[in-house]
Formats: sequence, C-alpha cells, structure tokens
Amino acid sequence: MTITTDTAPAAPSPAAPPPATPPPATPPPATPPPATLPPATPPPATLLRPHAEQVYADELAALVAADDRPRPPSWRMSPHAVVTYLLGGALADGTVITPKYVGPRRLIEVAVATLATDRALLLLGVPGTAKTWVSEHLAAAVSGDSSLLVQGTSGTAEETIRYGWNYARLLAEGPSRAALVASPVMTAMAEGRIARVEELTRIPSDVQDALITILSEKSLPVPELGIEVQAAKGFSVIATANDRDRGVNDLSSALRRRFNTVVLPLPASEDEEVGIVARRVEQLGRALELPEVPSALEEIRRVVTVFRELRSGMTADGRTKLKSPTGTMSPAEAISVITSGIALAAHFGDGMLRPADVAAGLLGAVIKDPVTDGGVWGEYLEAVVRERRGWGDFYRACREVSG
Ligand SMILES: Nc1ncnc2c1ncn2[C@@H]1O[C@H](COP(=O)(O)OP(=O)(O)OP(=O)(O)O)[C@@H](O)[C@H]1O
Ligand SMILES: [Mg+2]
Repeated sequence: MTITTDTAPAAPSPAAPPPATPPPATPPPATPPPATLPPATPPPATLLRPHAEQVYADELAALVAADDRPRPPSWRMSPHAVVTYLLGGALADGTVITPKYVGPRRLIEVAVATLATDRALLLLGVPGTAKTWVSEHLAAAVSGDSSLLVQGTSGTAEETIRYGWNYARLLAEGPSRAALVASPVMTAMAEGRIARVEELTRIPSDVQDALITILSEKSLPVPELGIEVQAAKGFSVIATANDRDRGVNDLSSALRRRFNTVVLPLPASEDEEVGIVARRVEQLGRALELPEVPSALEEIRRVVTVFRELRSGMTADGRTKLKSPTGTMSPAEAISVITSGIALAAHFGDGMLRPADVAAGLLGAVIKDPVTDGGVWGEYLEAVVRERRGWGDFYRACREVSG
C-alpha cells in the first residue's frame, strides 16, 4: 500500500485541537454518526452496566486530588495511583479505595508500567480471570475513559480497527474529513487515550496486522484524504486474549513483539477466590437491585470449593483424584452461579440462599458437554459430595436437579 502522507498543508495537526471530545478527523459539527446515542448520558444509577469511570467516579476523583507523584503525559493520575485504584488502599484524606483486582501486586505494576512506555499491553489468561475487567479499570484510571473499545471477533474487519466511512456522505461529497468515521483506536490516538481491543486472537490475522503500523509508527494513515493521524502522547492499546483461543488466530510474531504480555492467573487460594466471588456478587446484587440475601457466604464457599476441586482434578485435601469437566470453572462462572441463586432465593425462596438455589446453576456451569461432563459430575457427586460432612442438603439438592 502506498501512503501519501502530505500532512503539511491541508490537515491541521490532529493532536492539536481543543480538549473537546470528537475525533479530530471528524470535526465536531459535521457528522453525528447515525448510531450515536443522544449527547446527554443518563445518570449511571439508571444504567444496567455503567462504565468503571462512572461507577468509581468518586474514587477516581479522590485519587487524582491526592496524587502528588509525576504523571506521564496525558495520564489522569500517576502510575502509583493507578495501581492503588486497581488493588485498593486508603488515601491520606481517609477515602477508601476498594480493590478491583485481587492478585499479585507485581502483575498490576508491570501492566501499568508498560502503559507508561511505548509498548502496548496484552493481558493473557484462561477465561474468567478478569482480563476484560482489569483492562477496563486500567483505561478508566489512566485516561478516564474505558469506552474506546474494539470487540474482536472472527468477523472484525480492518475498518473497525482503522476507520470507516459514512457512505451516504461519501457518495454525496466524495472522501472528506466529515465522511470519515474514526475507529475507537483512531480516536484514542488523536486524543492520547487508551484503546482496548478485546479477544485479539479471535480477529483474523490479516486484520490484526492493521495494528502493527499503529503500534510501531504510532500513526494511522488515511490515504484517501492524504493525511495521517499521529498518536498523541498517552496513547496506548490494551488487548486481551484468551488462552483457550490459542491456535485460532495466533498473534504474528511481528505483532507479539509490540506487546508486553501479562498473564493473569487463577486465584491462588480458596480464601482469595471466595473473597473475589463474594465481593463481586455483592456489587452485582446492588447494581441489579436484587433484594438482599443474607449469609450467602456458606454457599459461596461451597461453590468455590466445587469449582477448585473440579478444575484442579483433585479434592481439597489432596486425597482423591478427580476428572475435570470440559468447560472452564473460573471465578466468573462462580459469580454467575451465585448471582442466579440469589435471584431464585429472593424471588421464589424464603430469602435465604439455600443449596437448592445454587444447585441448578452449578449443574449448568459444570455440564457443558452432556456426555462427558455428565459422567464427570455424577462421579464427583457420588464419590465426594455425598461423603462430605455437612454437605447432605447440598448433595440432595444436586441429585434432584441432576434428575
Ligand atoms: N482476581 C480477580 N480479582 C477480581 N475480580 C476477579 C478476579 N478474577 C475474576 N474476577 C471477576 O470475574 C469476572 C469476569 O472477569 P472477566 O470477564 O474480566 O474475565 P476474562 O478474563 O475477560 O474472561 P474471558 O476470557 O471469558 O473474556 C469479573 O466480574 C471480575 O470481577
Ligand atoms: Mg474477557
């Protein structure tokens, strides 16, 4: 591809315009893209899933106010404050920062330090290890905006990563800045923010390669207009990829070299995992306005125990070997099993989370393949659950839903 980048006369520097939001390649008044929501954002409390920067606006503001360390260009806060935002802590003014991620501090430090360099960040791990979650919170803390997002699928086209056109305008007026529709990546480059690319390895390899120029040259040419968008300081990319997708569309070595990889692990201990699930279940329950269900902790611990045992192929006491089911048994699934259980208990039960409320969800999480997983679950139920002291109710509830 020949790129005519005669940037000089026609195109004012894209990074220069006022701090306003619209991408420089599409001047403000010209193109309200058809799919854009009305400008007034509804209050976060009415949204089903507000962005991290909306939910934690107070914490972010307190961190910015208390932050006296140096900030990389365009960052809203120092790397140190970003790590505190993710891992939690208390500020000098007494503000409590809730932990968003539970795991090794060093990993988050490496991730944040990477964003302060010219390399992009790749979060890798098995499903449900908070890759998306961490990427959203990092973008929220660093640029105050986690919404510049490209969702990778096998159908992701190059224009989703680079730019597209408003075809009505393109036909009527020919190629013009007003007809250009900037991708989230282009917007992030122009504004010095973080762009997120979800499930990078699901994107076809040739489309992934569109990121190479962006990450190495920090520039995105628009040959049709003879311009280029150069990345402002502060621009970076956080991509996530799933271990299980390895081999679907492997990252080319050229692209891999542009990323620093951080592998997010499964929770190290049972207590840690119970803590993660309990906190998230509580937050979700509040966001969904589910009626409060007291003392869910016992069932949470039980579900986490089942998940950990099946995942590791060994009972917690290390005595009995087990077969593992085909699906992933991650904290994310445990969270949804408990949340569904709470909805059942609140609306159809006596308001307490009972074994019967989690059994059905648990079965659905474990048995992804009816033939092999059904056998694995049956064996586990009879050999482990049935024999375990204090698990009688749970055993009966599971038997009942297993049919
Ligand atoms: N270590 C952890 N600390 C805090 N929350 C966690 C942790 N592990 C998992 N979670 C929770 O699990 C949920 C799912 O995480 P997320 O969707 O980010 O996983 P993922 O790694 O992107 O999975 P996938 O590969 O399926 O996309 C989130 O709600 C998150 O709160
Ligand atoms: Mg994800």
